[in-house]
Amino acid sequence: MSAVLPVAVVISGRGSNMEAIARISLKPASPFKVVRVIADRESAGGLARATSLGIPVSVVPVRQFADRESFDAALAAELDASGARLVALAGFMRILSPGFVQRFEGRLLNIHPSLLPKYKGLDTHARALAAGDSHHGASVHYVTAELDGGPVIMQGRLRIRAGEAPDGLSARVHTLEHIIYPHVCTLIATGRVEWRAGSVLFDGSPLDSPLIEENDAAA
Ligand code: GRF
Repeated sequence: MSAVLPVAVVISGRGSNMEAIARISLKPASPFKVVRVIADRESAGGLARATSLGIPVSVVPVRQFADRESFDAALAAELDASGARLVALAGFMRILSPGFVQRFEGRLLNIHPSLLPKYKGLDTHARALAAGDSHHGASVHYVTAELDGGPVIMQGRLRIRAGEAPDGLSARVHTLEHIIYPHVCTLIATGRVEWRAGSVLFDGSPLDSPLIEENDAAA
């Protein structure tokens, strides 16, 4: 694949994953380019980060919409206008409607701070610690109608340290997230990872289990 893949990143908060993706995309050899960062609120810290990197930003203010469908329609219109062919949700704190997910099927990614299918939903770091897990991490997956349930492409995995607190663990997982999310964008942009009818192909063959980035030293 020779053309550079246009990517949009959708955020609600500080946008550290967005920044990691954007910084890789600004390298001359990057096979993808972040063409727009969209937030669902003006207060998203990532908007300033994106602007300082020279990336166009827009806000689709969630409070101005009466229901999920109308917000999702506005978000979809903004994404279409951006020209993006891949959409990376990065700390986007809203559940998207089935119609939106279907419209962007195979072009919509999310990052979740656990080794899916473990710990869908919130408080993943505390839950992994409370369960006494030996390992924890983050997953980049295609988004489907099932919350945090779409096919996982890549996981960053680390060993939990004795006596580790949720905040420290969260910071280490974040460091891993900043490695795996841009990496997945590259794999998709170069055609090595593909969505095919609800499953993932890697180098043309079905991906039976996620690609793994092991990094115990993160953070
Ligand atoms: C990350 O932990 C990500 O896994 C989750 O939301 C957080 C976003 O962090 N979906 P940031 O805004 O990218 O710093």
